[in-house]
Order: sequence, then structure tokens, then C-alpha cells
Amino acid sequence: MKILFLNGPNLNLLGQRETDVYGKTSLAEIEKLVRHRAAKLNAEIDFRQSNSEGELVTWVQGAKGAFDAIVLNAAGYTHTSVALRDAIAAVGVPTIEVHLSNIHSREEFRHRSLIAPACRGQIAGFGPFSYILGLEAAVNVKVV
Ligand code: DQA
Repeated sequence: MKILFLNGPNLNLLGQRETDVYGKTSLAEIEKLVRHRAAKLNAEIDFRQSNSEGELVTWVQGAKGAFDAIVLNAAGYTHTSVALRDAIAAVGVPTIEVHLSNIHSREEFRHRSLIAPACRGQIAGFGPFSYILGLEAAVNVKVV
């Protein structure tokens, strides 16, 4: 299985950014954890980050026919991006929404995810382990 991990704005700052909320693990370390688990699951991983909404949309579009599933932490765009939601709906590649923090226990503006209706499911609140759970969901997306 080929799985595309996409990370949105400011996730390049993980480990330094609001560590009380997001923890001290960097995105590179999360990628390492994901690759370690993926190797055991025989899954092939592509892991990317962008601060640009358009680039994320282009990557989602490019996933059609190239990846079996997408694991997406859209970060701030989760709550604002109709374009990202439309891209997910358009390509039909099963997409799992992940968040490090529990967006539902935070500020009210984070409770609403515009991408959620286009995704297969959502995992939030488990720190870096959200990504591992996202990987497990992606690998099993055809059977669930
Ligand atoms: C986040 C939650 C979002 O609300 C926030 O804008 C982020 C990170 C998370 O992983 O917890 O940048 O997606």
C-alpha cells in the first residue's frame, strides 16, 4: 500500500511551537515513527509538509491513482479550507484526518472541521501517536 502523509501550515515548527499544546516531538521525528511502523505494515510512505494551501490542494489532486490513502493534518486549514475539502471530495482517495491535539476540547473555532465531511474519519488528541493511528486506519481503509 502507498500512503501519502500531508502536513499543513506551521507543522514544520513542531517541537518548538506551543509545546504545551503540541509537545516536544518535531515533525521529522514523527516522520521517523511513522516510517518505522509503516515498514512493519509493509506500507510505502510519502511524507510532506507545506505552509501553502494551494500546494496541499495540488498534492491531494496528485494522489489519485498514485496513492491508496491520504493521512492529512491540515492544521489551520482544517477550519477554513473549502478548497482542500473540495479536493478531497474530488479525488475520492480515502483520506484520514489527523490532529495532534484534541481540537474539540480547545477554542470553539477549532471544533468545526471543514474537511471532516469529505474524510473517512478523524483522529485527534493523541499527540504523535495520532499519526500512527492514522497510518493503521489508512492501511485498513479498504476493510473498514
Ligand atoms: C492541529 C490543530 C489545529 O487546530 C491547529 O491549527 C494546528 C494543529 C493539530 O494537529 O492539533 O496547527 O491540526
